[in-house]
Amino acid sequence: MTHETRRAPAYLAHWVVKTARAQEMIDWYGHVFDAHVVHEDKTFAFLTWDEESHRLALIKLPSPVKLAFPLAKLRRKVYGIDHLAFGFDSLGTLLHKWEKLREIGIEPVWAINHGPTTSLYYEDPDGIRLEFQVENFPSARQVMDYIEGDEFEANPIGVNIDPGYLLERYRAGVPERELLKQGAGTRPGTTQKANRKAINFRTL
Ligand SMILES: [Fe+2]
Repeated sequence: MTHETRRAPAYLAHWVVKTARAQEMIDWYGHVFDAHVVHEDKTFAFLTWDEESHRLALIKLPSPVKLAFPLAKLRRKVYGIDHLAFGFDSLGTLLHKWEKLREIGIEPVWAINHGPTTSLYYEDPDGIRLEFQVENFPSARQVMDYIEGDEFEANPIGVNIDPGYLLERYRAGVPERELLKQGAGTRPGTTQKANRKAINFRTL
């Protein structure tokens, strides 16, 4: 497709958050995205973690504003944008990220093999949910075949994973293609949570 015929935007450039927790957000994105501040003043903070000039911009609100929206973190559970998803290039990279964040007390709110992806969901200090994912299939065609198949119809949500167990298996030399299969992240002796049973107030 040439640029004359392309109708869609080329890529997602950045997102902007009005926040009464700017410093917490800067620290969190620093840990989670290796983000650094490219500009900050009384009103704004611009952060990036790659070649883009800014990926996340914060508009700083006075701290008491958060008291006016005590249920703001719950909003995404019922309405509006649910999450933003970010792809990792391998399961190994994703699991090492999980381990590093865990060491500093940042834990996913949900860890699941959805079928098409293996996903860890995190929430930033303002409750914005971010999905860190790796594709379970090598091509988009195979993902679509899976989504159109019986397995996905029977279980469109997925099977919860224990990232620590997957990391143990990864380090023991189990190939990624095996670890990306549903059920591979269920630690023996634990109860597997699948489909609607994987959803509770925390993961919703
Ligand atoms: Fe997603």
